Amino acid sequence: MDMGIAGRKAIVCGASKGLGKGCALALAREGVELVLNARSAGPLEQTAAEIRTSTGATVTAVATDVTTEAGRAALLAACPDPDILVTNSGGPPAGDFRNWSGEDWMKALNGNMVTHILLIKAVIDGMIGRRFGRIVNITSGAVKSPYPNLGLSNGARAGLTGFVAGLARQVSQHNVTINGLLPGSHETDRLRSIIEAGAKAQGIPAAQAIAEAKAAETAKRFGTVEEFGAACAFLCSAHAGYIAGQNLLLDGGSYNGTL
Ligand SMILES: NC(=O)c1ccc[n+]([C@@H]2O[C@H](COP(=O)([O-])OP(=O)(O)OC[C@H]3O[C@@H](n4cnc5c(N)ncnc54)[C@H](OP(=O)(O)O)[C@@H]3O)[C@@H](O)[C@H]2O)c1
Repeated sequence: MDMGIAGRKAIVCGASKGLGKGCALALAREGVELVLNARSAGPLEQTAAEIRTSTGATVTAVATDVTTEAGRAALLAACPDPDILVTNSGGPPAGDFRNWSGEDWMKALNGNMVTHILLIKAVIDGMIGRRFGRIVNITSGAVKSPYPNLGLSNGARAGLTGFVAGLARQVSQHNVTINGLLPGSHETDRLRSIIEAGAKAQGIPAAQAIAEAKAAETAKRFGTVEEFGAACAFLCSAHAGYIAGQNLLLDGGSYNGTL
């Protein structure tokens, strides 16, 4: 299916690897011009080169921390009028809420809620004026089903999702959509490091922990970044203008609910 977005411009945050890279690659395959972001310049440049070579897309890399004001300014300077925005950043640490200070909470809220909202604020009026905009926020399955040891993530992402639920309904009339993509367990460095840390704590081999984690999934496997990227490309497509304010859970059915 032609997604109808060739020639559109996109900012994809947190995109040197993992889910953000999956989204970037899927958009590039649709002929979208990309501005990619991550903090470490080396891996980001490598990903940008890889995407250019495999798709022929125009890709600009902006190595910066998107959770800072200066970082967001650099990103927006490289692409002041995006048609597509994919918000993403690293997830907050796991732990027991009794150990978290106010500062820990502010950091999580900044990284997983406020940063996304400030990026949306910077681009949305331009999208409304041009009568086309697609915003996808990469959040987490935690939005539907909280993880016991990831309270910072559960809280911050619920805040973003609540805010967006209201805003999405104010802008869909302008052909500007905002939706959440909620990853379950996707095979990325972040998932691997979480499972490996758990394996170490339990004193079991990492390979065993990974096998057990896959067995615990309803689909008996993890999701791939390619599957995640394809869902993102569809939500960003010309065909998805009537999908607004939704939260699409990609977890192979592990969330046990009818709706
Ligand atoms: N994978 C899963 O199964 C899963 C499940 C639920 C939720 N999530 C959430 O989905 C998001 C992406 O996860 P992932 O698995 O793709 O992680 P990942 O493999 O660790 O990739 C994260 C990407 O974001 C970049 N990044 C991190 N912090 C950044 C910042 N402050 N500014 C700019 N770029 C930043 C990283 O590059 P640099 O380090 O160089 O900046 C990297 O490119 C995270 O918020 C994660 O918590 C993932």
